[in-house]
Amino acid sequence: MEEKLSRELLSVLDRDVDFLPDKPEETAESTLAALWLTAAGEPTSAAGAVERQLPALDRRQQDELRAMVRRRVAGTPLAHITGRQQFMGIELLTTAEALIPRKETELLGRAAVRQLEKIEQRVDHPVVMDVCTGAGNLAVAMALHCPSCRVHAADLSEDAVALAQKNFVFHGIDGRCRVCTGDLFAAFDDRDVMGKMDLITCNPPYISTARVGEMDHEIHDHEPSLAFDGGAFGIKILHRLIKEAPRYLKESGWLAFEVGLGQGEAMIKRMRKKYSYTEVSPLVDGNGEIRGIIARNGGAK
Ligand SMILES: C[S@@+](CC[C@H](N)C(=O)[O-])C[C@H]1O[C@@H](n2cnc3c(N)ncnc32)[C@H](O)[C@@H]1O
Repeated sequence: MEEKLSRELLSVLDRDVDFLPDKPEETAESTLAALWLTAAGEPTSAAGAVERQLPALDRRQQDELRAMVRRRVAGTPLAHITGRQQFMGIELLTTAEALIPRKETELLGRAAVRQLEKIEQRVDHPVVMDVCTGAGNLAVAMALHCPSCRVHAADLSEDAVALAQKNFVFHGIDGRCRVCTGDLFAAFDDRDVMGKMDLITCNPPYISTARVGEMDHEIHDHEPSLAFDGGAFGIKILHRLIKEAPRYLKESGWLAFEVGLGQGEAMIKRMRKKYSYTEVSPLVDGNGEIRGIIARNGGAK
């Protein structure tokens, strides 16, 4: 019976869902596994579900599973149905009020963790900041990979802040991770944090306003535009980030952030020419594209 159900739903998902390139972990198989576990009362992301055994479902759970497949086919993102998304191997809570963490952001996450591991060798309790934190995925990844660090996070969206706080509690790291509501660094205008950060991370909105309206329906209709809209040219927050970050960084602290396709070269030039960053390096993805930048604060210019 369950084998028949599984075959039937797999063929529906395969035929009727357009799987998006920015969620490469989602296939008909991983989607069905994630929905199956969720119907069984064990909500799990697509990436997490493929590693799990699927339990037997009773009649009510089978009906729930069918209803979830219908929602997915109608365009609801998988993570909004399961309430889960994996980031750097970590299961996170997700809601419709914040961006679903993307696989591509793991490039920045891995670079940040690598840098933090180096910082840890000479600083006992590194202090890091994650602005535009969304679900808190980068903050959680850094806190879990570096148990001695403290994290200050912020987002303009109160809903995102509430979700990041839930993720800190979910992973038992709320004692050393705090999250505030504010415009970029505005929540941190106090002496406790200024000039004290070993590392600042940010995955800002970097899509131009015109292009936000052209995004795929699954994204445009279900995720907050605040998470994508980087102003007329997409670079409004990026420019503020590279200008304002040095105030919060230690003299040789690090800034690591994501950029959109085609934005990297100009941003690197700007960081070298207009500001005092040193060791400015691109983070290059598997396609040879610059999708992030990491740089060291070089003091005042
Ligand atoms: C691309 S999402 C990144 C979310 C998360 N860090 C991630 O990697 O999935 C950008 C985030 O920036 C937030 N945001 C937009 N404008 C902002 C601003 N001016 N100040 C702070 N956060 C902002 C959005 O609410 C959203 O959560």
